[in-house]
Amino acid sequence: MQPVLIAPAPLAGIKASFLDVLRAGGFEPVYPAKQAQLTEAELLEALRGIPAVIAGSEPYTAAVIAAHPQLRVIARAGVGYDAVDVAAATAHGVAVTIAPGTNQDAVAEHTFALILGLAKNLPSQHNALKAGRWERRANLPVRGRTLGIVGLGRIGKAVALRAKAFAMPLLAYEPYPDHSFVAEHGIRLVSLETLLAESDFVSLHVPLTPESRYLINRRTLGLMKPTAFLVNTARGGLVNEADLLQALQAGWIAGAALDVFEEEPPPADHPLLALENVLVTPHAAGVDLQSRDEMAHSAASAIVALSRGQWPAEQIVNPEVRPHFRWSIS
Ligand code: MLT
Repeated sequence: MQPVLIAPAPLAGIKASFLDVLRAGGFEPVYPAKQAQLTEAELLEALRGIPAVIAGSEPYTAAVIAAHPQLRVIARAGVGYDAVDVAAATAHGVAVTIAPGTNQDAVAEHTFALILGLAKNLPSQHNALKAGRWERRANLPVRGRTLGIVGLGRIGKAVALRAKAFAMPLLAYEPYPDHSFVAEHGIRLVSLETLLAESDFVSLHVPLTPESRYLINRRTLGLMKPTAFLVNTARGGLVNEADLLQALQAGWIAGAALDVFEEEPPPADHPLLALENVLVTPHAAGVDLQSRDEMAHSAASAIVALSRGQWPAEQIVNPEVRPHFRWSIS
């Protein structure tokens, strides 16, 4: 049996089908000592002697990859791979895989929990009543309020379907739209600027890349309505947090819901955490009981397939590694 490191904390100590997939494929799961997101130093240590890892959001930097020539596969239990230095992985013959199609519904449900939490003012009403205050006041409707979806891929589409049930008019910014989906669901495709200017809720569903870093910044926040809300369940690096803090404090926008942060976990004294008009969750959108198991199953299947000489093309992020990829190191 070869070891596979199971890095994501939500997979620690659970029984799920990914374990059967791994064991049937000749692998034994091993777990880090710590059940929380690993730092670079901890990951360097945890990967000793490990040929494959089911990866969470811990940093697979060039230094981590270079230090582990036995590593063959980084299999993300998720769809984002911004925490992996893909160029370094390719240079070292390491295949990087993702788990497409496994968590869009979980993220969409969580996005709606956040939209509703903002509209219905849940945090402050909850806190007030638990503190003994009966503060009845009118909340916001979402029906008839425009939702702007930035990125209409799998997750953006899953959000759009739920928004229709809430009778929200839909705008989307998407450079490569699925025109039949757009037409079928009455979505108006617009520029990012128009989306920001016209939406009551703006929800981010694009990957973090060098081009999308700080997509939401002083300028783009300035385009939003003072009554509008920003929801980020994608990646913290999409938003310039210093600019968002200023926008929230100065009333350029009404509020924000954040599941992701530039640094995770954020420091306890992060100023955004102290604001009344900010609703937060701990990078939880993609992981519910169902998506957790499906993401892990998909990642385990990719590892087993690669170890058998198969090529799970739909999951591979760096196809250019193929000519250099081999399972065993002689
Ligand atoms: C993703 O990349 O799909 C998610 O961020 C997965 C996760 O929540 O770990």
